[in-house]
Amino acid sequence: MSSLPSVPPVPGTDPSSCIFDAFRISIAKRVSEALEPLTLEQAYAGVDYGKKGEDFTVALPRFRLPGKVDELAKKVIEKFQADDFVASVKHDKAFLHFQLNTQSLIRETLNQIHTLGSQYGTNTSGNGKKVIIEYSSPNIAKSFHVGHLRSTIIGAFLANVYKTCGWEVISANYLGDWGTQFGLIAVGFEKYGSQEELEKDAIKHLFDIYVKINKDAETDPEVKVEAAKFFRRMEDGDESALKNWREWRELSVKKYEAEYDRLNVHFDLYLGESMVSQKSIDTAIKRLEEMGLIDDHEGAKLINLEKHKLGKAVVRKKDGTSIYLTRDIGGAAERYEKYKFDKMIYVISSQQDLHVAQFFKVLELMEYPWAKDLVHVNYGLVQGMSTRKGTVVFLNQIIKEATSVMHEQMQKNEEKYKAVEDPEMTSEELGITGVKIQDMAAKRYRLPLYPCLFVISDCPLRINNYTFNWDRMLTFEGDTGPYLQYAHVRLASIGRKNPHLLPLPSPSQIDITTLTTSPHAREIAFLLGTYPDVVKTALKTHEPSGIVTFAFRLSHAISSAWETVVVKGEEDIEKARARMWLYESAKDVLAASMRLLSIRPLERM
Ligand code: ARG
Repeated sequence: MSSLPSVPPVPGTDPSSCIFDAFRISIAKRVSEALEPLTLEQAYAGVDYGKKGEDFTVALPRFRLPGKVDELAKKVIEKFQADDFVASVKHDKAFLHFQLNTQSLIRETLNQIHTLGSQYGTNTSGNGKKVIIEYSSPNIAKSFHVGHLRSTIIGAFLANVYKTCGWEVISANYLGDWGTQFGLIAVGFEKYGSQEELEKDAIKHLFDIYVKINKDAETDPEVKVEAAKFFRRMEDGDESALKNWREWRELSVKKYEAEYDRLNVHFDLYLGESMVSQKSIDTAIKRLEEMGLIDDHEGAKLINLEKHKLGKAVVRKKDGTSIYLTRDIGGAAERYEKYKFDKMIYVISSQQDLHVAQFFKVLELMEYPWAKDLVHVNYGLVQGMSTRKGTVVFLNQIIKEATSVMHEQMQKNEEKYKAVEDPEMTSEELGITGVKIQDMAAKRYRLPLYPCLFVISDCPLRINNYTFNWDRMLTFEGDTGPYLQYAHVRLASIGRKNPHLLPLPSPSQIDITTLTTSPHAREIAFLLGTYPDVVKTALKTHEPSGIVTFAFRLSHAISSAWETVVVKGEEDIEKARARMWLYESAKDVLAASMRLLSIRPLERM
């Protein structure tokens, strides 16, 4: 429970889940009372985080009040009285900087983290709402490329963020499990297939067959003809043509599930292009025809989107078979029918921007009221992701490479290495963390936060492309995944090294006044207090980089505190307890932010 005086309510705020709302309201109250007729709500909207060392800042011109900025500032300052919320105010050009009362800041923040436990950082803004998030979506029998990896990582993050904000989330993987290539594989399977290989590693075996039969097709035109015939039979629902395909799909999904599991990524639904019914595709095309949106072109059907600057797109081939675009149109309608989502997010690389814009536009033209609830989360492509043995084609190669590069890194420090309990598991977890962090530290748009880590290529869409750098991403130095894990492990070790302090007494029994003199402790508490806001921003922007930045800032603040805010050997038990509480809270929140990024925080390494 907060021991601060209560503050008037402001819509959209909730001090019981975000204590900074209370601090902001108290600042807004002062500002609005001094600057009548400014309302509390208007003033609240003007309270922002301060830059460099300032807690909160109000930019006066934004209120568009009559009078000079200096006069307005003077009015606020003259009326100002320090209290439990705010300690001081400073006037600087057009800004007013407010410094929070340090003792309240630390006590209230740690109290809230304690009270809410694992719920700290969550909010209820999405209660009662349902979102489908479609991500990863690799193609069976084709390579799992870095675009799929990025979709997997960003999608898993989004699923976590939406859940944290109270949404009901359905994670869906939309497999590329349909299309002419399966005719090719069928032809290839007869020639090169082996049941044993298939059962051992379906993903690899089908890929190998696909590569071989494509080669054959280059010299033998019959192959493609056969393949098209075969796919036609599949589309017609010919059971004998579908039997093998079904097994390929099943075994591939099984294999993928195990790999996603290692990445800490989970799907509620394995959908696929194959599951979009002929009926919904026919309905879509019929409806488009009735609306006069379809052109016939030599037997094929085209939708004309030139009016919308989206060109023309084929929706049905000459031979009557469906295509990628049509399946997306039918698939979206089916999903709405079945799940009645409030929002549906597609996490697909910017390479497919045109495709997504086309199918969103078609759904809008078809006047589906839910078409406005579709969101495309896109991202730039990772370039140059190859292992030391060559180009990456499978997800497990990425995991393996990350693990082995990390393992080598760890072995460089012999002594530390020997102390690691389970080097296999640890190096895999660290390697995966390295890959994820490098991926999510780069903003989907605009310049990335850590330009030194990435080579940015010029891209007209200003989508960030970046290059994977295995060695850099897997060191313990700089803002890397392993560094983050290291920060967490170090926090976990304080508890192990100071068992006499645990379990901590209840918050009211801990005297935090000793922390108030340490700027490092204040900095940590302040960052912890921002966490609920950081989560809300991530929901709004769909950007994982904000969470990544938060995790690094917190880790840096903790590492700056180590030397002065010491627990081990502190004889004053009151002091030691307060510090322990601070670190325990920091550990919980750092772990929560890592989990949001789908990372499993390590306890030891
Ligand atoms: N399987 C596709 C590919 O690998 C990605 C699917 C994206 N999702 C969608 N609904 N189109 O290119």
